[in-house]
Amino acid sequence: MPSRKPAAASGALSLHFKKFLQQGRGIASLAPSSRKLAIAACRGILPHRPQTIVELGAGLGPITAHAAQRMHPDSRLIAIERDPDFAAYTRRVVPCAEVIVGDAGDIAILLAERQVTQVDLVINGLPTPSLPEPVKRKIFEWMANLPDTVLISQLTVMPWVYLPMYRHLFDRVHFDLVLANVPPGGVYHCNGLRPEYAAWL
Ligand SMILES: C[S@@+](CC[C@H](N)C(=O)[O-])C[C@H]1O[C@@H](n2cnc3c(N)ncnc32)[C@H](O)[C@@H]1O
Repeated sequence: MPSRKPAAASGALSLHFKKFLQQGRGIASLAPSSRKLAIAACRGILPHRPQTIVELGAGLGPITAHAAQRMHPDSRLIAIERDPDFAAYTRRVVPCAEVIVGDAGDIAILLAERQVTQVDLVINGLPTPSLPEPVKRKIFEWMANLPDTVLISQLTVMPWVYLPMYRHLFDRVHFDLVLANVPPGGVYHCNGLRPEYAAWL
C-alpha cells in the first residue's frame, strides 16, 4: 500500500535547511517542495495504469510521497538521492518507493543494475542547470535514449529564467507555474529532447 504519511514533518524541515546552508546550489531550494508543487510534478502519473516512474533528487520525499499516493498500485517508483540522510528519511516515509542512495549521473548504471529496461516517466527534482557538467552530460545522454513519448517533468524554483532554455532543448514544453511554494516555482513538462542539448552542456 502506498504511504499516506506527510513527507516533511517538523524536524525534517530543519534538516533540509541545514543541508541547504551546507550545500547551497546542490540543494537549490530553501524548503522541501509544497504540496501544490508536488501535485504539479506528478501530472504525468496515471492512476489507472502501471508505470515505471523515476524520480531524480528525492530530497525529503514530498514528490515521492505524492507520487506513491497517485500511482497505480502495480507501478514501480524509483527515487535517486545522493544525500544518505535525505534518502533514509524518504525511505522511511514512503516505504513503497525504491530509494537509491547514489549520484543521478549514474542513472543508466543504477537502473541497469535493477533490471529496469523501460521508463514511463521522469520527475526531475535536481537543480539541473547548476549540476557539474559531467553529471549533466550523463543525465542528458540517458534522457536522449528514452522514447520520445516519455514525459520529463523538471521542477524549478526559477520559473521564468529557465523556460526559454527548456523550450530550446525540447520539442514540446508545457509549463505549470506554482506560486504556492517557497520560493515560487513550477514544473516544465517536456517531451522530445533535441540534439541541441549537446551544445548547451
Ligand atoms: C531542490 S532539492 C529537491 C528535493 C525534493 N525533490 C523536493 O522537491 O523537495 C534537490 C535534491 O537533489 C539532490 N541532488 C543534487 N545533486 C544530486 C545528484 N547529482 N544526484 C542525486 N541527487 C542529487 C539534493 O541532495 C536535493 O535533495
